[in-house]
Amino acid sequence: PRKILIDTDPGVDDAMAIFLALASPELELLGLTTVFGNVQTDLATTNALRLLEIAGRSEIPVAQGARAPLVRPFGGPVPFIHGEDGQGNTFLPPPQKAPLGLSAAQFIIETVLAHPGEVTLVPVGPLTNLALALRLEPRLVEAVAGVVLMGGNALVPGNASPAAEANIHNDPEAADVVLGAGWKITMVGLDVTQQVLMTDAQIAALAAIPSAMARHLSRIVPFYREFARRRGNWGGIHLHDPTAILYLLHPELFTVQQWPIRVETIGVGRGKTWPNPQTGSSEEREALRPWQGRPPVGVCVGVQGEALVEIYL
Ligand code: BDR
Ligand code: CA
Repeated sequence: PRKILIDTDPGVDDAMAIFLALASPELELLGLTTVFGNVQTDLATTNALRLLEIAGRSEIPVAQGARAPLVRPFGGPVPFIHGEDGQGNTFLPPPQKAPLGLSAAQFIIETVLAHPGEVTLVPVGPLTNLALALRLEPRLVEAVAGVVLMGGNALVPGNASPAAEANIHNDPEAADVVLGAGWKITMVGLDVTQQVLMTDAQIAALAAIPSAMARHLSRIVPFYREFARRRGNWGGIHLHDPTAILYLLHPELFTVQQWPIRVETIGVGRGKTWPNPQTGSSEEREALRPWQGRPPVGVCVGVQGEALVEIYL
């Protein structure tokens, strides 16, 4: 199986992604690292531990990460989307286990260097921990198998603002570092995640699966569904974070472009991921500052969403 580390801010769709990874024999989850975003970092850590306990997988380690973005203060959690507790206001009991005694960035470095070329990083929250890890250990660029992230919006509007997707909006400076690092990286952004729609009938089918993981999801998804109902009338929920895991399992169901990305860090566009889809000679492309010298990023632009939701179930 493919070794992965998930960096997460759980989060209803984060829980859905983590459980999909745990239920997939193709993947070996080596650990969870936590970050602020849907909730504050301490609660993200508590939730990561709780989710592993629900799944009966509390042997998997959890390392706590950054409590704030690299440069500007954190804008705050989103209880109206994921609940005060990040888990649909189900208020789970405290976890039995504690996180590791090292930071997310340190744990990422140690794990990747212990298995050179084998570990794929899967961040589904703000990219702060990855940027910090890169700063501490530049050899990560060569040592990872790859990075598959949920975040960004290349060709469609944002969700945290008209310009920006939430994970990138929460730390644009970190995202610009991570998307420019020169490692093998794929951006699974709103361009595709908004096309992976789990309908109400499918949510009901999920709730009927006899497992502890499905039972927990059946308790937390309705809160997230209510937010989706207020936002737009899609007839279900978008599987943002699970789509990053689905990309690992079924990349053939995605269309991917190789485009360099810059992240806007100022003004109303803060957090916007700008691709440079310019064709022509590499010299002509290079001449387009501020993309000059930026490495290509795999940008998911098309997806077979219905097939992926069936696979999820
Ligand atoms: C992303 O933002 C968070 O609310 C979700 O968990 C997901 O990672 C979607 O924009
Ligand atoms: Ca998330």
